[in-house]
Amino acid sequence: MLASKLPDATKGLGAGAMDVEDGSGGVGGGKKVAGRWPGLVHFFFVLTVVMCALVYAPRFLSPTVPVDFLRPQRPSSSGRAAGGQLQGRGEDGGRGNVGRALVLDNQVNSPCASMGGHGICCDRSDFNTDVCFMAGDVRTDAASLSFLLFPPQPPSGTATANANATVAEKEERVQPYTRKWEKQLMAKIHEVRLRAARPDEADAHRCDVRHHAPALVMTAGGYTGNLFHAFNDGFLPAWLTVQHLRRRVVLAVLEYNPWWAGTFRELVSGLSDHLVIDLLRDNRTHCFPGAIVGTRFHGTLSVEPARTRDNRTLVDFHDFLAGAYKDDKSTPEPEKQQPRRPRLGLYSRKGNRMIENEAAVARLAESVGFNVSILATANGAPLSSEYAAVSACDVLVGVHGADLTKLLFLRPGHAALLQVAPLGVPHVARGCYEKATNMMGIHYEQYDAAANESSLVRKYAADDVVLRDPEAATRERGWDLTAHVYLGGQNVTLDLGRFGDVLRKLHSRALRLPAAGP
Ligand SMILES: *[C@@H]1O[C@H](CO)[C@@H](O)[C@H](O)[C@H]1NC(C)=O
Ligand SMILES: *[C@@H]1O[C@H](CO)[C@@H](O)[C@H](O)[C@H]1NC(C)=O
Ligand SMILES: *[C@@H]1O[C@H](CO)[C@@H](O)[C@H](O)[C@H]1NC(C)=O
Ligand SMILES: *[C@@H]1O[C@H](CO)[C@@H](O)[C@H](O)[C@H]1NC(C)=O
Ligand SMILES: *[C@@H]1O[C@H](CO)[C@@H](O)[C@H](O)[C@H]1NC(C)=O
Ligand SMILES: *[C@@H]1O[C@H](CO)[C@@H](O)[C@H](O)[C@H]1NC(C)=O
Repeated sequence: MLASKLPDATKGLGAGAMDVEDGSGGVGGGKKVAGRWPGLVHFFFVLTVVMCALVYAPRFLSPTVPVDFLRPQRPSSSGRAAGGQLQGRGEDGGRGNVGRALVLDNQVNSPCASMGGHGICCDRSDFNTDVCFMAGDVRTDAASLSFLLFPPQPPSGTATANANATVAEKEERVQPYTRKWEKQLMAKIHEVRLRAARPDEADAHRCDVRHHAPALVMTAGGYTGNLFHAFNDGFLPAWLTVQHLRRRVVLAVLEYNPWWAGTFRELVSGLSDHLVIDLLRDNRTHCFPGAIVGTRFHGTLSVEPARTRDNRTLVDFHDFLAGAYKDDKSTPEPEKQQPRRPRLGLYSRKGNRMIENEAAVARLAESVGFNVSILATANGAPLSSEYAAVSACDVLVGVHGADLTKLLFLRPGHAALLQVAPLGVPHVARGCYEKATNMMGIHYEQYDAAANESSLVRKYAADDVVLRDPEAATRERGWDLTAHVYLGGQNVTLDLGRFGDVLRKLHSRALRLPAAGP
């Protein structure tokens, strides 16, 4: 079920959906994020996060699927034992974590990094995301969307005197999504509860399904219908949070839907060896040796190695993607011709932010010496074939848009990304993707369209501030202008002379490097 296409990010822009208040609130409220950074640097860091969010936020594109379209998935049989037997602690039911504490939190310097084998710990220190961890005898309570922590069984006849000592009485609530500053969006994210259970609640919460791996609670909701967000808000954070568990984790997913499961099935099975639990529909009691509710976030398409215990990088995330997608379809062999024709992938957008002289640009790239592939955006192709197409490219070219998220598929240390920034949005364009390319060792090049390359010349007089001085125009008219005019109402016609210079530079660079491909 390879399902539907990824909806186009820009649709939401048309309808006045952008919410500048959220954005500026985010900037103002961001002081906590990283106190170690000087204010200005920090401001731009937060600005980047917020700008990308605004660019791609598809307010009217909530992937909330009509309920009758949803087919409840019968959940995991991964917990071998079902039924009510609760004698004996859940997590030492045969495998695993006896004597060796399960490390749930992989983040360095987290308040939860050193939690023991029994407890609840929430890290709410991050600007973007809250994550809660629960270690011990964890059981779901579907009716209240809760995870309950039962006290450890005393070894023999000893009293449960210390059972209350390690677990706060307070109920923790957490919304597992990585945009906690975006209030209107977060209002739609389910709130999951975590609390200590009283021993006398055990009878009412006998395990129907017993898992030997901890749960990760994430959501298929939010902006997941947009490719940028699916990776930036969803799968990259999920990977950051559980990659150290090496697939010994059960995904318990809010707003589970077949589109999500089909579109991202390789990533889902790359993260977890177990079947997914449809958390909102599955009313059975699932038991786990631990649970993580929410995901880590390190910045726009970012992995900060120093924040992970095992020094993970964005290249490791790329390798995760490579491993997830490579089974489905082999990458084409790199061409052996001499002289080699490096491969250039040209993203072809439809309707908006199009390259109006795309055919001429493709011929230009051929004449420069590239073997050109035209890559369609949002055409419904499975991501595995997108992976194969993009990972074979030495150079990926596209006008600013969510599909450039597929830079994550490019070969680290080798490829180049050439982003065409339409008039008026060079900073937005750079902010969304440049840092990720740096982290992957991918060469970044940006081509800023000039006024005479913009379709806006057909709409505005030559001396209009929109064409003459986009920065001043944006200062004057704010995000609305960016959203509706520069992003939402512009095509480009590239100057073949100037663009040819950039292509020639990238071509000679590619010739100096080994071919892309496996
Ligand atoms: C533990 O908590 C329960 C319920 O709040 C309470 O009844 C019990 O007395 C507590 N036990 C100890 C040892 O504090
Ligand atoms: C769980 O859901 C099933 C099917 O929707 C229903 O038959 C059953 O009564 C429910 N059980 C509880 C405890 O709500
Ligand atoms: C991670 O990097 C730091 C600093 O480079 C180093 O001290 C540490 O040993 C590394 N840790 C691992 C697990 O590689
Ligand atoms: C261009 O790519 C196609 C498809 O992979 C390949 O068949 C062809 O040989 C390549 N052409 C050159 C000149 O490299
Ligand atoms: C477009 O404008 C640039 C300066 O912004 C100028 O160098 C170039 O010659 C112009 N091209 C055309 C076709 O007018
Ligand atoms: C961009 O080009 C497409 C196809 O020619 C057209 O449908 C669309 O209206 C154009 N958009 C703008 C803003 O000119």
